[in-house]
Amino acid sequence: MRVLIIGSGGREHALAVAIARSPLLTKLYVAPGNPGTAEVAENVAIRTMDIPGLVAFAVAEKIDLVIPGPEAPLVAGVADALAAAGIACFGPSKAAAELEGSKKFTKEIADGAGIPTAAWASFTHAEEAHEYIEAVGAPIVIKADGLAAGKGVVVAATVEEAHAAITEIMEDKVHGAAGALVVIEECLVGEEISVFAVCDGEDALYFGTAADHKRVGENDTGPNTGGMGAIFAPPWATDEVVEQSMERVIRPALREMARRGTPFRGFLFAGLMVEEDGPKLIEFNVRFGDPECETILPVLASDLLPVLLAATNGTLNTVKLEWLAQKSATVVMCAKGYPGPYATGSEIYGLEEAGQVEGVKIFHAGTMAEQAGILANGGRVLAVNAVGEDLREALARAYAAIDMLDWEDGFCRRDIGKRALWAEPVGGNRPG
Ligand code: AMP
Ligand code: GLY
Repeated sequence: MRVLIIGSGGREHALAVAIARSPLLTKLYVAPGNPGTAEVAENVAIRTMDIPGLVAFAVAEKIDLVIPGPEAPLVAGVADALAAAGIACFGPSKAAAELEGSKKFTKEIADGAGIPTAAWASFTHAEEAHEYIEAVGAPIVIKADGLAAGKGVVVAATVEEAHAAITEIMEDKVHGAAGALVVIEECLVGEEISVFAVCDGEDALYFGTAADHKRVGENDTGPNTGGMGAIFAPPWATDEVVEQSMERVIRPALREMARRGTPFRGFLFAGLMVEEDGPKLIEFNVRFGDPECETILPVLASDLLPVLLAATNGTLNTVKLEWLAQKSATVVMCAKGYPGPYATGSEIYGLEEAGQVEGVKIFHAGTMAEQAGILANGGRVLAVNAVGEDLREALARAYAAIDMLDWEDGFCRRDIGKRALWAEPVGGNRPG
């Protein structure tokens, strides 16, 4: 089986490692990949958004399955373009990818399917948005409708912050066309979880839960990022919460998408707030999470490739997953300055030794290989994952590996998983 993974981050490195293990695999390509994926696959120099280039390559190389990592090519229709060329793709059509491409669309699906979510309204005129904020007060959440590289959401503690967000998004147009429409919603309070399912258009197979750490600063302070670290199966994702997430959120969304004639296939990622009466939908993403992917895949015992194939062929109901009895945690190493401006090109020493710490796997997220060695080439640069008997051991191993790295321009949060260590363990919350 010949497989092409699209993307160049830590998520795609983790996917490549998992797919490379499959006895079904004969050849693995990653476009464009990174120095990490080059260790387990052949990188090809085609950009993530070069859809004609990706399709032409897949046809020429007789690719049996394409696995897109990031959302942008999916929202731009890579699955449709591949389908038109007769190439199988584990990922949603452009129409189904609207679940991530438009926040308003997600809210409409949630309402149509009876999925619990924050109360909301949408606006195309700044004036009306300002009036609405005056009427409902703070805290309140302001969201640019379209894709804004994870920066289109403002959780406003005060009415002033909310007005400022409307001015930035709708009047100053800081996110361009993505902010032409704004969704304003009730602020949910609780613990956040990322719940994953592999979907084939009809069925959903539970694929694990993780807790991301979105803020750049320790104790969840500072601006939002793509994710500074994640832990597998956080204690507040009890078996009951997982069950409710599947039955109240994921499965109703799949039914509603199918009813509309745009069935969803691929990784469905539900960002949920666990409130007293159960999980509430914050957002859907149409792909695996990053760094959640680097956190969940290391504890998957099953071969990933046949699972994704089954989802692509509509035979997911024949699949049963096996998981290792271990905990898993990932700490992301970033370039100083991230999520603001940062420098690239500084060398990272000690990767090999650090990667030998027991249970540790270092995924490349934003690196480049030069003769000198591995250089930083992004905001999020490395995703350091470790598995262990319990969360404490997994975290200790990840930080031990990080302490062996010598990278002057890098930083990480030192408190990944801290709240979970304090929380009482409840339930097994192991995917099954
Ligand atoms: P997003 O960019 O859509 O991933 O959203 C960024 C973050 O904003 C989420 O991970 C939540 O932490 C927060 N957020 C979004 N919507 C809400 C909401 N309705 N209530 C509270 N927090 C929210
Ligand atoms: N870590 C959150 C995301 O992938 O969107």
